[in-house]
Amino acid sequence: MKCIGVLTSGGDNPGLNPCIRAVVRMGIHLGVEVMGIRRGYAGLIDGEIDEMDDRSVGGIIGHGGTILATARCTEFREIKGRKEALRSLNRFGIDGLVVIGGNGSLTGAMELWRMGFPTIGIPSTIDNDVNGTDISIGVDTALNTILSAVDKIKDTASSHNRAFLIETMGRDSGYLAIASGVAGGAEMVLCPEVDTSLEEICQTIDEAYIRGKPHCIIIVAEGWQEGAHALAKQLRERQDAVGFSVRVTQLGHVQRGGSPSAFDRLLATRLGAAAVRELIAGNGGTMVGWVKSAIALTPLEEAVAFEKELSLDLWELSKIM
Ligand code: F6P
Repeated sequence: MKCIGVLTSGGDNPGLNPCIRAVVRMGIHLGVEVMGIRRGYAGLIDGEIDEMDDRSVGGIIGHGGTILATARCTEFREIKGRKEALRSLNRFGIDGLVVIGGNGSLTGAMELWRMGFPTIGIPSTIDNDVNGTDISIGVDTALNTILSAVDKIKDTASSHNRAFLIETMGRDSGYLAIASGVAGGAEMVLCPEVDTSLEEICQTIDEAYIRGKPHCIIIVAEGWQEGAHALAKQLRERQDAVGFSVRVTQLGHVQRGGSPSAFDRLLATRLGAAAVRELIAGNGGTMVGWVKSAIALTPLEEAVAFEKELSLDLWELSKIM
């Protein structure tokens, strides 16, 4: 293998830059040329490709976002788009590809691999819903961002004696909600994976009120039923049943930005370096993950077969705590 390409695809997250840096520097260390592909699969199809060197990734390890930019590309989901992508790879003399992204992006990597192109994946999504890895790049930083917001909201919630619904990201995954709920000492967590009735929610808020708590914090995953705003409306209609008055904070895309944490920088560097080694060693068609504190390879087909299930031990802990 003489030349490899690297792209970031799908939703961005803090940790992409340290990962790109590791891919570029490990590639150069092992004597291959490294090409940076802009805007994920969209830029691959359009041929937005440039050579990268040691200096092109200097000073980025502490920066959020991605210097290569990213995109969600519908064209690539069609066979025609994927053929165009293969033409670009051939035109630029790229003979191996590193894809950094979540489930959709890794499915794209698998499709290229099925078409015979040596491709390797690196899991990176704040949703932490990729199989074959205990944690994906970006999750730790996003959690720290959420916790810093939860701590601040508790200050104002206590001052005013209010209940807050704090909405985290996670269209299909409750991981961020459950992990931040446990680590942030929330009274309740609402996830798309678990059914919770309005009665249970009212009861939790009312109990907190009656016990004289100064606030009640409920973390709501984006994908939970109709969302935090609709729930707040229902709770306000039952003000007598819940005691506290209710406010909503939707954290939104703030969770996807910011300087990567120490954990994310290390994880991104380890996975980026391992991906290049494995690709060059002929282990394309796989994803490099982090399992039990070590690098683990999982066939891409297995990694994207289904979304990782919510960790039940965290769910149980959240109820006990
Ligand atoms: O990257 C995953 C994610 O953050 C989901 O949790 C969220 O639902 C989605 O991306 C939002 O995507 P977009 O930025 O395209 O609105």
